[in-house]
Amino acid sequence: MWATRDKQHLWHPFTQMKEWLNSDPIIIQKGRGNWLIDVEGKRYLDGVSSLWTNVHGHHHPKINRAIKKQLDLIAHSTFLGLSHTIAVEFAAELMKWVPSHLSRLFYSDNGSTAVEIGTKIAFQYWQQQGNPSLRNKTKFIAFSNAYHGDTLGAVSLGGMDLFHRIYDPLLFKPIRLPFPYPLQEKRSVEESEAAALAQLEATLKQQGHDIAGLVIEPLMQGAAGMVHSTHHFLQQVRSLTHQYQVLLIADEVATGFGRTGAMFACQKAGINPDILCIAKGISGGYLPLAATLTTETIFEAFLGEHSDHKTFFHGHTYTANPLACAAGLASLQIFEKEKTLSQLEPKIKQLRDGLCAIADLEWVAEVRQEGFMVGIELGGFDPTERMGAKVCQAAIDKGVFLRPLGDVIVLMPPLSITENELNLLLETTKTCIISSCGHQVKK
Ligand SMILES: Cc1ncc(COP(=O)(O)O)c(C=O)c1O
Repeated sequence: MWATRDKQHLWHPFTQMKEWLNSDPIIIQKGRGNWLIDVEGKRYLDGVSSLWTNVHGHHHPKINRAIKKQLDLIAHSTFLGLSHTIAVEFAAELMKWVPSHLSRLFYSDNGSTAVEIGTKIAFQYWQQQGNPSLRNKTKFIAFSNAYHGDTLGAVSLGGMDLFHRIYDPLLFKPIRLPFPYPLQEKRSVEESEAAALAQLEATLKQQGHDIAGLVIEPLMQGAAGMVHSTHHFLQQVRSLTHQYQVLLIADEVATGFGRTGAMFACQKAGINPDILCIAKGISGGYLPLAATLTTETIFEAFLGEHSDHKTFFHGHTYTANPLACAAGLASLQIFEKEKTLSQLEPKIKQLRDGLCAIADLEWVAEVRQEGFMVGIELGGFDPTERMGAKVCQAAIDKGVFLRPLGDVIVLMPPLSITENELNLLLETTKTCIISSCGHQVKK
């Protein structure tokens, strides 16, 4: 009944609806801990944290309580011309967790807007400099295979042909540079990163005076298929962007809130971005919320008289939604009280150990892991086989919800996953790769 009603009116994201209409979709009714439960009562381990958002598990009593408490106060009040207590409280708490040189926070409500805001702030920052030559800084550097969201500004920065090609006439054009992908390039990590850095340096040398910012997904390019870069690579990107006065915009929408094993990937890699974009895990994965953080220097460039037109003219109706802020605050309190990050360390090791057996499978080209973000790239299949989707469907049939990125199987469980559940995730993934790939002919 639910499936029929769904198919009557709904249009799902990133979904070929013809296939959907012919399928028997799973309809989720509730979540408990690390499990999703459908209308038939069937349970699915949430192997991708409900699209990389859930942090401490579903139906967490502390987060539930915080949202209910806030609901008794107010569900929503505008942030244009007013403030509210929970947004102030959450921002103050969040400041304790983000890189310490970032001191200003601009709220929004999803990852795409967090990145668009970062981009607009970087652009406007240079336009408001006293030195006229700095106002030439209008261009952006973005990387191959980058994904920063689906609104047009974010799509302009994105570099995923399949998703973005059709919108090309609508987009602004960043300078596109290669992100290291050693497996695809058939090079060592060192060679691939050195080549990317050489190209970045040459570009900055030539055009740095025209470049406002560089947008990067630190440590893991998520939607590209969990494509990994080293700390060294990021440190070099930071150092070069410093040298050429280019603002570094770190898109930590996917990597933030513990996914890499540190609160933020930038901290793990030892770099200080000028602008940090966060969303997804910010509310523990409960409600839509995002934030763009900047240094005080950037913020100060927007101060002036009203008539100076230095205001940042940007805002969304549900900016800083109080219920979402309450969830975010409760999530940070759990991080602190339950020592989520230190509890994660043995689980990251367990994941690493379990992945060795998967990496050895003949159908696996490479396994990439950064903390709790994992990409298992299958090798040698024609893309039309959609082998990634087949493996994930087999896992779903066994009660583990996975969603692939092409032929990359993504594992990104909630940080709260238990040892037994992690074993189940690893074991099911392995079994399903064997059962799905085992009787397919390779290219
Ligand atoms: C790195 C990155 N940036 C931005 C986004 C867009 O976030 P949202 O879907 O909340 O707009 C995503 C979503 O997956 C992402 O992974």
